[in-house]
Amino acid sequence: AEAEQGLKDAYRSDFLIGAALNKPQIEETDAKSNALILRQFNAVTPENCMKAENIHPEWDRYDFELADKLVAYSQKNNLQLNGHTLIWHSQLPAFANQIQNLDSFKTFFENHINTVASRFSGKIFSWDVVNEALNEDGTLRNSIFLQKMGPDYITEAFRLAAKASPNTELYYNDYNNEQPQKRAGCIELIKKVQAAGVRIDGVGIQGHWHLGKVPFKEIEESILAYHELGLKVMITELDIEVLPRNFQGADVAQRMASDPSLNPYAQGIPDSILQQQATDYENLFKLFLKHKDKITRVTFWGVDDGQSWLNGWPVPGRTNYPLLFDRQLEPKAAYHKLMGLK
Ligand code: XIL
Repeated sequence: AEAEQGLKDAYRSDFLIGAALNKPQIEETDAKSNALILRQFNAVTPENCMKAENIHPEWDRYDFELADKLVAYSQKNNLQLNGHTLIWHSQLPAFANQIQNLDSFKTFFENHINTVASRFSGKIFSWDVVNEALNEDGTLRNSIFLQKMGPDYITEAFRLAAKASPNTELYYNDYNNEQPQKRAGCIELIKKVQAAGVRIDGVGIQGHWHLGKVPFKEIEESILAYHELGLKVMITELDIEVLPRNFQGADVAQRMASDPSLNPYAQGIPDSILQQQATDYENLFKLFLKHKDKITRVTFWGVDDGQSWLNGWPVPGRTNYPLLFDRQLEPKAAYHKLMGLK
């Protein structure tokens, strides 16, 4: 069946299969890439264009151009659109970071959610309302939102989003929130929103995992724990990084950027590693299938290895291979394993 079908067809009765899209894909500048997207995926998340720094660059100026194009693209092609993200400490516009006055900050917060969420009300399936609010130990991150508004900013964000976009599902999203301490903090955060009588529909586990180190046990425990809270569970930013741990720090990346010989797979990647990655992906999807009654969507953070953010994070100069499609947009071993499971 692989000849005609894509992942979205293979997993149609289980969960949606999504991908994060960036500017070239939204603007349909590469026909082969867009054909691949439409064959493989039935859900999309904007990789950058709905983040505050892009959509709300100045106090009283919004730029909806690319986001509107994504809405049109997803409507035309029947793709379920998840907005990403309303409240996040990162990729904030410069003006927001400079607001001193508490009332002004609160006004920014309210205006931002009201304007952006109502703009897409009825046009979007869901929002990652709050992103990455937790520290690894489960306490709240000391973000500008916490500093200016206190811990209730999270409930407030969900309340405002529900009002501005009443028929849109509302999610909390984070990375490492499958790890026990951070999971406990995440559960506490969700319970607080629920206890305030404010709607929260789901929780996203980002899923930026590492070759040979996918935390299967913690992922399963988390799927069960979040489901217990009455929430939909999603894997929202899946990729499996292949670079060794010691190639991941900002300092190493910095050195790699100036000395390309330090970039281990710049000339290509051994097949043994791609096979190991395929096994990791296969085991992950076996776990997702086991809990398909609790998982509504699995979204990859990008489409092909060439445009993955992991080539350029935290600084450019890495050559990474985290996704299911290679730089020629051809399916990798991992893709065939996932199709083979069905
Ligand atoms: C990343 C994008 O992929 C990059 O293009 C951008 O430069 C930085 O942000 N967690 C998230 C995503 O919630 O929004 C991040 O996306 C990756 C980590």
